[in-house]
Amino acid sequence: MSHHQLPERWATKLGVILAVAGSAVGLGNFLRFPTMVAQNGGGAFLIPYFCALLLIGLPLMWMEWTFGRYGGLFGRHTLPGIYDVVAKGRRWVKYLGVLGLFVPFIIVVYYTYVESWMLGYSIFSALGHFSRITETAGFGDFLGSYLGAKDGQPMSVPTWAALFLLITLLANFYVIWRGVSRGIEKLTRIAMPLLFIFAVILVIRVLMLPNAFEGLAFLWKPDFSRLGDVKVWLAAAGQIFFTLSLGLGAIIAYSSYLGPKDDVAKSGLSATAMNEGAEVLLGGSLAIPAAVAIFGIVQTTQIAQGSPVALAVITMPAIFTKIPLGELFSTLWFLLLFIAGITSSVSLLQPLVAFLQDELGWTRRQAALTLLLVTAAYLVPVVLWQQFFIDDMDFWSNNILLPLGALIEVLIFAFIFGIHRGWDELKRGAEMHVPVIFKYILLVVTPLYLVVLLGVWAVQEGWAKLTLQGIEAAHHPYIIASRVVMGVIFLAMVLLLRVAWQRQRAGKVPRPTPHPDHADIPCGMS
Ligand code: PHE
Repeated sequence: MSHHQLPERWATKLGVILAVAGSAVGLGNFLRFPTMVAQNGGGAFLIPYFCALLLIGLPLMWMEWTFGRYGGLFGRHTLPGIYDVVAKGRRWVKYLGVLGLFVPFIIVVYYTYVESWMLGYSIFSALGHFSRITETAGFGDFLGSYLGAKDGQPMSVPTWAALFLLITLLANFYVIWRGVSRGIEKLTRIAMPLLFIFAVILVIRVLMLPNAFEGLAFLWKPDFSRLGDVKVWLAAAGQIFFTLSLGLGAIIAYSSYLGPKDDVAKSGLSATAMNEGAEVLLGGSLAIPAAVAIFGIVQTTQIAQGSPVALAVITMPAIFTKIPLGELFSTLWFLLLFIAGITSSVSLLQPLVAFLQDELGWTRRQAALTLLLVTAAYLVPVVLWQQFFIDDMDFWSNNILLPLGALIEVLIFAFIFGIHRGWDELKRGAEMHVPVIFKYILLVVTPLYLVVLLGVWAVQEGWAKLTLQGIEAAHHPYIIASRVVMGVIFLAMVLLLRVAWQRQRAGKVPRPTPHPDHADIPCGMS
């Protein structure tokens, strides 16, 4: 879109809610959540989980919708852009928004790779490939061959696995290329109902298994003694962040395509509610209960200690070989995960494309194409040395930079934008009454919660990770290489911010302009 055309907008109110719910409902809901519940006290985990939802999740969700809609009025759709609008001339503030480019980029790279496995697996299921595998171990071997595991470096990824990745990437970028309402909104209007239908069918099938009740009882049996452990509380907070896609500018990018008077309070709440329903009710009734029903408690306890991805691609297909019409259900399972994945990954790409459009004056298509090439280039080392790259990228982006990004956001909202002004902005056009207590939660409790979360993670895990503790010496060079790549990307993005603002100041790029409907909003642009 050039600056002469009308600004991009969501076509319908339901569309934006579904898009945000699509971002939120992802692999996290069906894989990460049930694993967390099983590891952290079963039903008792819901206590810290819902505390985190009320004290960080929902307040941040409302804040991001509010910030996004506000930025959109000035033609800004990214964290750096919005920080620039509210900074009142303080030039450094916008640089804090670099996390709103860096974190989504790091996550989208490995997330699309995992998403492509789901596509590949759904096709193998549909072709009946999995019915030939009789032992659970056979699925482990299959995964190994899919990923190209071999002795020595790098991985020898099979052509077809690379092809699934390419298709996944192209699908993602096609949606972004089409734009907000013609791409993302269209996708989510089809994908979200499908996702819901697939999940419900699978839940019904799992609940019809002879031992399904035992499975639910295993997952949800509360162990209140775990609530004394700080780690359980932090894990709950981390899950809330991740599952609601908060702290990295994804929700902000979406809500920035709202109109000035569109409701943010009720829409934000609806999207949150959809995600929580999908997570607790559907995610909590699928993988782990099914594993108990088929494999029993002892084996499932081990499975739950392992990786959520192994649960998806080893345990679940093994379960489906043991039930009638298993191939059909297995195909549905992987399609469900693929759909959940793609509606999330496009929300990670949108802020990046929007940055190139808003701040560098590129067209959406130029931006999408460039980003496609850069993402593909980064994927090459990530795929070839995945066993070193992915976990490290995941740790720094999710456990450290997400809470840090959210903390910066809430501090800027409360103290630079101003909490009273922010609150009034949230209420403008609101179709529901937002209890005022949330204003004070956002001002006091949310930042404190985030500081503790970040502090404990940085001290307990961050330091050990940084100094490569417990990692074989032979692997150090790869992990260091991965971090160097991340460091270079980070610096490149900071530089890009600088260049963007220099060019804007020199008048080479049209400054993003306030939306005409809203010339009356006090303009904070420097
Ligand atoms: N919310 C997604 C999930 O639960 C993950 C995600 C995080 C997507 C951040 C976009 C942005 O899987």
